[in-house]
Amino acid sequence: MDIYKINGGKKLSGEIHISGAKNAALPIIVGSLLADGITTLQNVPDLMDIRTTVKLIEHLGAETNFDTENNVLTINAKTITNGEVPYDLVKTMRASIYVMGPLLARCQEADVSLPGGCAIGARPVDIHLQGFEKLGTEISLEHGYVKARTKGLKGDLFVMPKVSVGATINLIMGAVLAEGETILENCAMEPDVVDLGNFLIKMGATISGLGTERIAITGVKALKAVEYTIMPDRIEAGSYLLAGAATRGSVKVTHIVPEHIEALLDSLEEIGFSVETGKDWASIQTTDTLKGLLVETTPHPGFPTDLQAPMMALMATVPGISVMIEHIFENRFTHVAELHRMGAEITIEGKCAVVKGGAPLMSAPVMMSDLRAGAALIIAALAAEGETEIRRIYHCDRGYEKLCHKLSGVGADIRRVTGGM
Ligand code: EPZ
Repeated sequence: MDIYKINGGKKLSGEIHISGAKNAALPIIVGSLLADGITTLQNVPDLMDIRTTVKLIEHLGAETNFDTENNVLTINAKTITNGEVPYDLVKTMRASIYVMGPLLARCQEADVSLPGGCAIGARPVDIHLQGFEKLGTEISLEHGYVKARTKGLKGDLFVMPKVSVGATINLIMGAVLAEGETILENCAMEPDVVDLGNFLIKMGATISGLGTERIAITGVKALKAVEYTIMPDRIEAGSYLLAGAATRGSVKVTHIVPEHIEALLDSLEEIGFSVETGKDWASIQTTDTLKGLLVETTPHPGFPTDLQAPMMALMATVPGISVMIEHIFENRFTHVAELHRMGAEITIEGKCAVVKGGAPLMSAPVMMSDLRAGAALIIAALAAEGETEIRRIYHCDRGYEKLCHKLSGVGADIRRVTGGM
């Protein structure tokens, strides 16, 4: 298995071109199954989760071509069948549950293995299932599989008991071809949901209220295949800004939508970094006066849970006390034990982590436990003196395109080495 070797202590400086958003691309790729024709997607990041999703839709009958050099994915979804989505294909990726919406809409049935995903808590799919039941689906759970059957999805009102990105996405995809009007309340407002909605609208769907808590969808008879460009990855952008900040460098991320990372930029300013933004870029620069802060993760437009671990790596380098409260997932502090090994002083009580920052981080052999925990370790290693070896880096292959190349481009000493444990 590959490992990263990072020689830290170097200030990062320069520009990083941000890739297309993983969490928008995943549902959009699956959403292409809703149209009988050839969809062309631009700005698709070449990531493990994307490749798994491509395999998943091929399993259901789609023909695909992924030009990874140019990040263009074409999908021909002329013939789609409910080919029971196997556990082996979905165990690493929770987003596989997204096929329920399009399969129910086009085939009136879906058999999907209950998903796996990052080790960040129980992460049930009960809200997805309750929503589909409300839209006229019968659901049973058999041997680890969700079996869903409908005589035709019918619009209805569904109030989500908790804000869920995945359930909002899945139910929108089911409702676009349902009979009549669907009203979804307490929806996720994440940009990824809006990007999927804009893609579906381009295909001919009738959707209003994207980016708000209440989304209304009037079903149409059919959707047409279109060409669409995936929005930029706000979490990738945020991770690199945090890496720049942790090394006390100056990093500019380009090809982004700055409004998508407003909560992060506000936090960086609160710590004392100087932040600038333009039409499609954001940059940070270090100042002399940095101090700890309190951050709470909440649904968009709040501080994203996906930047919680990377932000904690920065907190460990900032003098004074910082507090991180994780409200979205109950088990998303797995990076803390590894950060301890690098000298970070962090105590956890329930959903609250207190970071006593400022002592220099030290290199150490460490191990990724999930995608964003992995990003936190990379940031800590970039800030630490000496050579850090990071294992289980396949987690980061799920979500950061050309990571070594991008970080080397701003002065990091990072190598991917084959043959580690
Ligand atoms: C999406 O996961 C993202 N994944 C996650 O990105 C992200 O951390 C998360 O949203 C929150 O922003 C993708 O987009 C593929 P949720 P999702 O449904 O949809 C609970 C990354 O690193 N819940 O919004 O699975 C759930 O347990 C990742 O890129 C239920 O209780 O998240 C959690 O506490 C990993 N029942 C909360 O809701 C349900 O049926 C929010 O989860 C669904 C969710």
